[in-house]
Amino acid sequence: MKKMMIAGNWKMHNDNAQALQLANQIKIKTTAVKATEIVICPPYTALSVVNDVVKGSNVVLGAQNMFWEAQGAYTGEVSAAMLQSCGVQYVILGHSERRQYFGETDETVNKRLRAVLENGLKAIVCVGETLEEREAGRAREVIDSQVSGAFAGIEAAAFSSIVVAYEPVWAIGTGKTASPDQAQEIHAHIRGQIEKQYGHDVAMALRILYGGSVKPANARELLSRPDLDGALVGGACLKAETFVPIIQTAEELAG
Ligand code: PGA
Repeated sequence: MKKMMIAGNWKMHNDNAQALQLANQIKIKTTAVKATEIVICPPYTALSVVNDVVKGSNVVLGAQNMFWEAQGAYTGEVSAAMLQSCGVQYVILGHSERRQYFGETDETVNKRLRAVLENGLKAIVCVGETLEEREAGRAREVIDSQVSGAFAGIEAAAFSSIVVAYEPVWAIGTGKTASPDQAQEIHAHIRGQIEKQYGHDVAMALRILYGGSVKPANARELLSRPDLDGALVGGACLKAETFVPIIQTAEELAG
């Protein structure tokens, strides 16, 4: 059975002192977790500090983005090797905030994904429609083009290093969660698209996370749905008191 994943996207929160404290609390409170993969994605500046805390524990380190070139005159960017030297294993790609504020496109997500895979890292690839797109009845169409754009030229074998996160833009940081039915419908649709292109085994093994206002109060209902294999958590991952119960819910559902 595939392990659920609960990933925390810290976004632009926590200086190094705060990061140290939060990572420590999460580590201490999750020592008994066995069936759930826990990933935390601090800002770049805190990766080393957090790595010192979590290495050897149940908590895996992720980054929030990565540039595709190996090195060079790219002011403000970081490479795969730089992230690896901080202990990073996962990289979030194509988050809607990157698409919205920093010009990320399906094409640049694809370039980043290739670099992630070539360097032996793993990716959490985010897709999701805006409210306007959903209201226009275009949610599936938008997600299909994000999925096919991100995975253009990617081989089936690479999917063991890929996790998909469905994050409806209208549910991120808004307190509005997709209903479990809405999330399940899109997750099943994404899995179906992957199955068409890469076959049954790849599609079944793929973890598809839901993201968008996940909190302890709604985690059980969401994670109980058959095609939800975990969560990408923003706001609720910034406190151990709200992040750890989501991990424990995944753990209970696995048992
Ligand atoms: P949220 O963010 O949980 O604060 O809605 C989720 C995300 O952006 O990954």
